[in-house]
Amino acid sequence: MTRYARVIGTGGYLPDEIRTNEQISQTVDTSDSWIIERTGIKSRRIAGPDETASSMAEIAARQAIEAAGCDPEQIDLIIVATGTPDRVYPSTGCLLQQRLGIKDCVSFDVQAACSGSIFALNIADQYIKSGAAKTILVVGTEICSRIVDWTDRGTCILFGDGAGAVLLGLSEETGILSTHIHSDGEYEDLLYCPNPQAASESNKHESAFISMRGNEVFKVAVNTLGRIVDETLEANNMDKEAIDWLVPHQANIRIIAATAKKLKMSMDQVVVTLENQGNTSSASVLLAFNEAIRDGRIQRGQVVLLEAFGAGFTWGSALIKY
Ligand code: ACO
Repeated sequence: MTRYARVIGTGGYLPDEIRTNEQISQTVDTSDSWIIERTGIKSRRIAGPDETASSMAEIAARQAIEAAGCDPEQIDLIIVATGTPDRVYPSTGCLLQQRLGIKDCVSFDVQAACSGSIFALNIADQYIKSGAAKTILVVGTEICSRIVDWTDRGTCILFGDGAGAVLLGLSEETGILSTHIHSDGEYEDLLYCPNPQAASESNKHESAFISMRGNEVFKVAVNTLGRIVDETLEANNMDKEAIDWLVPHQANIRIIAATAKKLKMSMDQVVVTLENQGNTSSASVLLAFNEAIRDGRIQRGQVVLLEAFGAGFTWGSALIKY
């Protein structure tokens, strides 16, 4: 039997509070028009005081489980991608397992910043292909608003909160065609978020907020995502025309447009959610994937390219026959 990891359900959650560009421009020196022109973002969602990465993950996960019509006890592996875990430990995966009331399965977290859910899909695919697991819940969940310095106009305009989930099941029918992931640790200084509590003496006075040299990150992201598209197509001996949908990480509309251009794709074939969500880091690709499945754009049998780029640097893609 050829084993494939097939998407059997998806889910998503966005918190209620909407924070507009107008609101941000009342506290830092920026404007609605600057943010829209340079990023494509108009507003983002902000988690409520009692919400956490695991509480948002639970809502997205329950939706995915319901869509699949699956008994939670069938899940044998939970992988949560997050850079904003509720606690250092237990992992958010374990906290999600507790929330879902699953007695016995394996749960862990993956930390690859904005590429986290692609890394998680890569791991899940290996588990299913090897026969080590049959039903895997992958969740990307982030409370970026709590690690953003709301006085730094270079970063606070970009990020938002939310969670996306996908349930994968063992199938003989084609599902995930391939995944490709990479890391290059050389670029720490361009994009990082300190953890002062565990830092060395010289770093422990750093703030606990995201620090980014946006313009330099932008250039690397555009080049790198162009390369991952080529790598994915080559690995599958596939032409650009075979891809029905691009579901990119939602960092900046100009980065997304550059990748679509490389694929000679019309923006009508690209799922864009950043306008009202901003960059939800590891949640963004799964949130966009879920949205386009639920509104009927992505249909069974279509070929979908998911891709992401983030701190590390990390980057990757997943080519899926939905
Ligand atoms: N409002 C107004 N002006 C601003 C703002 C703002 N919010 N932010 C920066 N500026 C100014 C700068 O100070 C600069 O002014 P100067 O010319 O007087 O020096 C000017 O605008 C241009 O700044 P740039 O940084 O060159 O602007 P750029 O066009 O690159 O846009 C942005 C900035 C939106 C951050 C962009 O670089 C970007 O999206 N970068 C990539 C982000 C990304 O992909 N991150 C990876 C994923 S995140 C993760 O993994 C956690």
